[in-house]
Amino acid sequence: MSTEHKIILGNSQRMPEIADSSIQLMVTSPPYPMIKMWDTQFSTINPQIAKLWQTLQANSQEETVAQIYDAMHKTFAKVWREAFRVLIGGGIACINIGDATRTINGKFRLFPNHSRIIENCEKTGFTTLPYILWKKPTTKPRYKGKGAFLGSGFLPPNAYVTLDCEFILIFRKGKLRKFAPNNQRRYESAFTKKQRDNWFTQIWEIAGTRQTQSQIERRIAAFPDEIADRLIRMFSLKGDWVLDPFLGSGTTTKIAIQNERNSISYEADESLIPLIRKKIGLEQRACKLSFMTREG
Ligand SMILES: C[S@@+](CC[C@H](N)C(=O)[O-])C[C@H]1O[C@@H](n2cnc3c(N)ncnc32)[C@H](O)[C@@H]1O
Repeated sequence: MSTEHKIILGNSQRMPEIADSSIQLMVTSPPYPMIKMWDTQFSTINPQIAKLWQTLQANSQEETVAQIYDAMHKTFAKVWREAFRVLIGGGIACINIGDATRTINGKFRLFPNHSRIIENCEKTGFTTLPYILWKKPTTKPRYKGKGAFLGSGFLPPNAYVTLDCEFILIFRKGKLRKFAPNNQRRYESAFTKKQRDNWFTQIWEIAGTRQTQSQIERRIAAFPDEIADRLIRMFSLKGDWVLDPFLGSGTTTKIAIQNERNSISYEADESLIPLIRKKIGLEQRACKLSFMTREG
């Protein structure tokens, strides 16, 4: 099946290129709020966030930390509203997100990004479905927020649980998607019993990606192909349209091509174009691929 793939270089807070109710599935992973490596990008997308960081330096107030965190999630809320508009009734949205831990003003705490996203998606109108915990290879436990346990890490109560899972949140717009009996595309898209038993469980242990990813993919926290592959095959049919509003290195496009789905994606950072081209290089031959630039 020949498929079409559009990559729009711009901000996905607005998606005027996509008609209402025209997309069957969203698979995405936004930057993680309160993870330091994404601070600059949040400040670029909303300069108010840069001002709040400056205010925090001057006043060291908890309230300012809360405002920064709120403002970061507000930048997403616009994207979730657009996603809701463009998804068909019964369309599914899968959002990969990690919580963040950070020490600010000497205080170590958790920023539970997954719960903020659930709240905001529900406000938008999405129905929350059971989610997946993606268990990553364990990193070192932390002591007083400062990294690995030291000798005193064996003494209660000041050590912290390690964040070794990310979330794959799953939402639906409206009621179940309906199909005519014997819909051919649906049967052609079926998964096997083994796949069903592995994929529809709550904990996914997917390891080994750090070794296979390039430095730049690690920098932008690309998810492994396996994550996109499972989600696309679990929640869409061959010939459907898949949206990724935070494309990064192009994983969703690559896997959509491999699975005979169409795709449309947004990426704000134009410097990623060579990486995207490289990632989907060979697959490009089997489809129509276009890059579009736009203002804003
Ligand atoms: C965590 S990365 C996505 C990684 C991706 N799943 C992959 O496998 O490569 C998030 C991406 O979203 C982009 N981004 C952040 N805010 C955006 C926005 N408002 N519109 C479009 N892209 C955005 C960033 O530049 C970054 O490349």
